[in-house]
Amino acid sequence: GGLHSFLVTLPKCEHHLHIEGTLSPEALFDLAKRNNIKLSQDDAAFASPATLLERYAKFSSLDDFLHYYFKAMEVLLTEPDFETLAMNYFETAKKDGVVHAEVFFDPDAHTKRGISYETVVAGLRKGCERAQKELGISSVLIVCVLRNHSVSDAKSVLEVAMKAGHFSNGTLGGLGMSGSEKVGKPEDWEEVFTTAKNAKIHRTAHAGEEGPPEYISTALGRLHTERIDHGRTLAEDPELMKEVATKQILVTLCPLSNICLRGIKQMSEMPIRKFIDAKVHFSINSDDPAYFGGYILANYCSVQEEFNLSLGEWEDIAEHAIQGSWCSAERKRELKNLVY
Ligand code: ADE
Ligand code: ZN
Repeated sequence: GGLHSFLVTLPKCEHHLHIEGTLSPEALFDLAKRNNIKLSQDDAAFASPATLLERYAKFSSLDDFLHYYFKAMEVLLTEPDFETLAMNYFETAKKDGVVHAEVFFDPDAHTKRGISYETVVAGLRKGCERAQKELGISSVLIVCVLRNHSVSDAKSVLEVAMKAGHFSNGTLGGLGMSGSEKVGKPEDWEEVFTTAKNAKIHRTAHAGEEGPPEYISTALGRLHTERIDHGRTLAEDPELMKEVATKQILVTLCPLSNICLRGIKQMSEMPIRKFIDAKVHFSINSDDPAYFGGYILANYCSVQEEFNLSLGEWEDIAEHAIQGSWCSAERKRELKNLVY
């Protein structure tokens, strides 16, 4: 469809981006060399960046992807590794017109292999500070607990972050939940999310990516989430869709991710038109762009190619994305002035 140049320059907010998901095969090989890490010998996909990319093009499911995602991040060791990872993302995001980014990270995937929480957060924080200073991009770090780890792991992630004072000093802006949707049930994490709610910590969770809409209602109910990450299967439950619309819950869609991980076969199956018709607020995001063949602009353009949205509809998307962001009221006003 048209509007391509409009979409290029449209100021964008990204709400669903895993910083570990921006680690490209090239960067992975550079880091492996620098950090003296032997890449997996028993998987031929790790022979070169090219073979790895070929494998990424054939993901069969979320779990198939997660296997590579967790393996690849083992090359990240030092604070500068995390700072560079973040800064490389922000530089690409800048080119795509991102003005505000809310960035997930999985501390538990790093602490489990001996990298401290402090190392990870210090590096990412430096990246965020540089993004603000050098690129004018504001950002929020969202610490994720993993569905594929235990509930007690999640409790300690939140406890460590709270004890460090990271939610009150602005280092962290919220709590998220990611990982496999095949293990456990969202309600298992109720206590963790209730603790966060009581401490006035922002909350979101991946739900309805591969799993059913019940996961979405559980996240909103028992986990008290203020947003839903993915939420693609929300369209299967019209009543719930109405509720999400009325409460102006932001759904952070990731179209190219859903296609790559085979939640849907093609873009036409994304519930974009259904969400617009039902007045559901949503943003369009890149999830793990180094793995899914495109950053945020590619996601915007693929949506436009399929759905041919009007200028007004894109302005509504931009407006809802700002409204659903976890930045200050002052920053929201600045972001609105950038759009209009
Ligand atoms: N971690 C990174 N990307 C993810 C996704 N799309 N779903 C669940 N966990 C993730
Ligand atoms: Zn995700």
